Amino acid sequence: MGKKIFSGVQPTGNLHLGNYIGAIKNFVELQNQKDNNCVFCVVDLHAITVKQDPKTLKDNIRETTAAFLASGIDPEKSIIFNQSLVSAHAEGSWMLGCVARMGWLNRMTQFKEKAGKDKEKASIGLYIYPVLMAADILLYDATHVPVGEDQKQHLELSRDIAQKFNLDFNVPNFLKVPEPLIKKNFSRIMSLKDGTKKMSKSDPSDLSRINLTDSKEEIVNKIKKAKTDTRPFPENEKDLNKRPEVENLLGIYSSLNNQSLKNSINEFAGKNFSEFKEKLSEIVVEKIYPISKEINKLQKDNNFIDDVLKVGSEKAGAIASEKVKKMKEILGF
Ligand code: AMP
Ligand code: TRP
Repeated sequence: MGKKIFSGVQPTGNLHLGNYIGAIKNFVELQNQKDNNCVFCVVDLHAITVKQDPKTLKDNIRETTAAFLASGIDPEKSIIFNQSLVSAHAEGSWMLGCVARMGWLNRMTQFKEKAGKDKEKASIGLYIYPVLMAADILLYDATHVPVGEDQKQHLELSRDIAQKFNLDFNVPNFLKVPEPLIKKNFSRIMSLKDGTKKMSKSDPSDLSRINLTDSKEEIVNKIKKAKTDTRPFPENEKDLNKRPEVENLLGIYSSLNNQSLKNSINEFAGKNFSEFKEKLSEIVVEKIYPISKEINKLQKDNNFIDDVLKVGSEKAGAIASEKVKKMKEILGF
């Protein structure tokens, strides 16, 4: 039997190679496997948990959609839509929020990271963000959720919420308990400037990430400037110990070539970093630059993108509102 896939990406600008390798590349692979039903969502309601400029938000929703399309997500095969067009997500989220426990949310490390020192000043939306994510997933009876490593804890919470709802209202199996799909390798791409920090949309240094909209020259330049170290090129996986930057670059190379880390190390053993970086630039340009070009092209046609989202949201809305209707009945409304 095929899988029911749901995943989301926030439209917060600067989509990068980490988003591609950790998430979008896998979306495309899953879409192209026989019998899978895929729903891919531009999670704009999640984006506003931190303040957004309305005009920029609109541009970013379109840019993220364009990135989905440019990477190979096909609206004929998958449902592509933005969350705010389907009000069932907000409704479902409220009902699930009454099932989720404060204690569970208090453990979420992403909230702690994003809220920073002054938690009192974080929005309530940021705190309950994982509940909305649970609604996203559970409304579609998703069986599998492809995400990067950083979303693991949120997925566990979705599973807990589903189980508690089913138990509290004695509706076994009504909400499907989703499985995370996190690639064992390469599910956490790090900053090009600091191998201990994940590659992130919000890093102030543009040199820390390869954006999906970068030009060839930008890609090559960023890889040239990427941090390595003064030790010789690794000869085996053990040599990667405590060398996060080198491990990260080799991870990127391996993932884009669909080969193991070990094979990549063997390919360059005895050579120097400049040779490796040259090959790394080649593969990143080969894989990312066509996406960048296509995003730029698609962004010239807002009507087309808006239309994809509208059609997608109608399909998504039909599924999600049906589930919300059943939830309401279960709750006694
Ligand atoms: P976000 O940009 O936070 O909405 O993330 C969208 C998707 O990209 C999620 O599945 C994340 O887990 C994934 N992701 C974000 N940053 C990285 C990264 N540095 N490495 C791997 N996956 C990532
Ligand atoms: N929280 C995810 C992130 O920041 C995005 C997201 C929202 C998501 N809803 C989802 C991912 C549902 C998977 C399934 O990356």
